[in-house]
Amino acid sequence: MQLVICQMEEDDLEQVIHIEKESFRCPWSLSSFQSEMGVNKYSYYIVAKKKADNLVVGYTGTWILFEEAHITTLAVHPDFRQKGIAAILLEHLLSKFRNVGVTYIFLEVRSSNYSAQKLYEKYSFAIAGKRKRYYDDEDAIIMVKHF
Ligand SMILES: CC(C)(COP(=O)(O)OP(=O)(O)OC[C@H]1O[C@@H](n2cnc3c(N)ncnc32)[C@H](O)[C@@H]1OP(=O)(O)O)[C@@H](O)C(=O)NCCC(=O)NCCS
Repeated sequence: MQLVICQMEEDDLEQVIHIEKESFRCPWSLSSFQSEMGVNKYSYYIVAKKKADNLVVGYTGTWILFEEAHITTLAVHPDFRQKGIAAILLEHLLSKFRNVGVTYIFLEVRSSNYSAQKLYEKYSFAIAGKRKRYYDDEDAIIMVKHF
């Protein structure tokens, strides 16, 4: 499957919200994405689209604050998982981070989210701590990667 990676646009949000609802117990609202894209000058959000039909199959977002980056979200459409799409999105972010001088990246992941933790471990993120009850019903594991 050929993919195109591009910055998230307003027109993508209907499909993004669909994936968001399929992927997370507490999905972000439309207005959360809109404010990330419009108001937050530190944010960088991208989507992966199938080249054949422009279908959004995954997305990720980050805040880049000088030498620090915080990955805020990453999800792949359930029908397109385990095909390397998250890896492509993450590699795109890592390349962007290198280009703008980021030296370390961190993120929170549910302590039960084995597949996401495996993904980040594959890209040399290490467990750096825990945030108790970061999610209403569960702790978050903090993972960090240094360049
Ligand atoms: C986590 C998620 C983004 C992975 O997306 P994906 O496109 O299926 O992942 P990829 O196919 O690119 O896999 C890359 C690596 O991730 C890990 N991985 C992905 N799915 C996995 C699974 N079900 N079990 C174990 N490891 C998994 C593996 O290390 C894999 O590398 P490998 O294929 O060499 O084993 C996807 O499952 C998802 O959207 N989940 C719901 C939302 C979510 O949890 N987001 C993360 C928030 S922190």
